[in-house]
Amino acid sequence: MSGKKLEIDGVTYRRATLADHRAVTELSNDVNPYEGLDYLEYFFPKYISQGNRHCYLAEKNGKALAYMQNILVDGGLTAIGQAGRSAPDVQHKGIYKTLFAYFEREVNAMNPHYERVSYTAYLSDFQKKFLKKAIYKVVDTRFVRAYKMNTSPTTTIADNDSIQNIPVKEVKQINMQEMLEILCDLSTKQKLFPKDSFISLWMPFSTSIAIQSNIKQIYDDSTVYATFDKNGRCTSVISATIIHCPYGLRYDVNFYGTGGSADLQLLKAHILIQAKLAWDYSIEHNRKAIMKIFWPTEIPLEMVDDFALNVMGWDKGPFWQYPQYISAVADKEKAQVTTSKL
Ligand SMILES: CC(C)(COP(=O)(O)OP(=O)(O)OC[C@H]1O[C@@H](n2cnc3c(N)ncnc32)[C@H](O)[C@@H]1OP(=O)(O)O)[C@@H](O)C(=O)NCCC(=O)NCCS
Repeated sequence: MSGKKLEIDGVTYRRATLADHRAVTELSNDVNPYEGLDYLEYFFPKYISQGNRHCYLAEKNGKALAYMQNILVDGGLTAIGQAGRSAPDVQHKGIYKTLFAYFEREVNAMNPHYERVSYTAYLSDFQKKFLKKAIYKVVDTRFVRAYKMNTSPTTTIADNDSIQNIPVKEVKQINMQEMLEILCDLSTKQKLFPKDSFISLWMPFSTSIAIQSNIKQIYDDSTVYATFDKNGRCTSVISATIIHCPYGLRYDVNFYGTGGSADLQLLKAHILIQAKLAWDYSIEHNRKAIMKIFWPTEIPLEMVDDFALNVMGWDKGPFWQYPQYISAVADKEKAQVTTSKL
């Protein structure tokens, strides 16, 4: 059954290929889901080449009508749904639902052992209503902010005394082996990832199941940095990813601390390091830069806003009205999309 195309009401449902890059980009530009911060055009060729990622398309006469993708993580146990798009002129006609049902059929044929479906999303009004249906259970709620970087961080640092006390020297880039060691130290892992979830590039990874393959996937897209105390215990971890978007360069920074009072300073240290890298990269590529920061709700939103807007001198970015995002999970049977068309 796997790989078989479906034709319903003149619409073809099938696996996407690299040849669909332009059609998928045109669809995504029409939908413009993230106000200039869409990642799909940039990552699509990579997604298509990844063995554990499955990309699906609904099309008619060569025009992409809907798109979605999934990635299997946690050793094949969890399918993360991503990048759902449906052309504005065909929305609410069930095309996306049919594509989703088609995906479920395909992924079941290819990987019958997957057990659950997860996703991440802004905690929008739609999400609040959707979660009331109680199909999915929220695993984690975190803050998210996009800040437009308008000034060179070097100028900001030189001008600001309060920055001198931020422990930037403690931050170091870590390799996969070092990340593995952090996750194998159970008490540190429990403090850093109490929800058993490391969300990197909007993908929630378990920190206890199939951690080697999850770490490999995280490093495939991102770079990881950490800080350590004087006993060598990890005190914070971030994953950082550069994404070329229609707006410019988007720098995603996902912060995890140990929940103590030092977390805010450590987050600021990571932001400063990443700001310098992002700024230099944006100058090199002659593009505008935006930093998107994701952090635990224990660190108040106002404090991070104050640092970004008043100390760094950045501006508010897209989706300001939604400062939180969630990750949610459901058993595959519960999440199953039913459509009379398949
Ligand atoms: C979400 C989206 C793909 C739905 O496409 P569609 O072709 O209109 O969908 P269908 O007609 O097949 O089915 C509608 C279903 O979409 C779901 N839906 C609508 N808006 C949604 C959203 N923002 N997020 C997730 N699902 C959504 C609804 O649950 C609805 O199901 P229901 O009829 O049981 O309520 C489309 O609205 C879209 O492209 N939105 C912008 C991009 C986006 O927000 N994507 C979200 C996932 S990344």
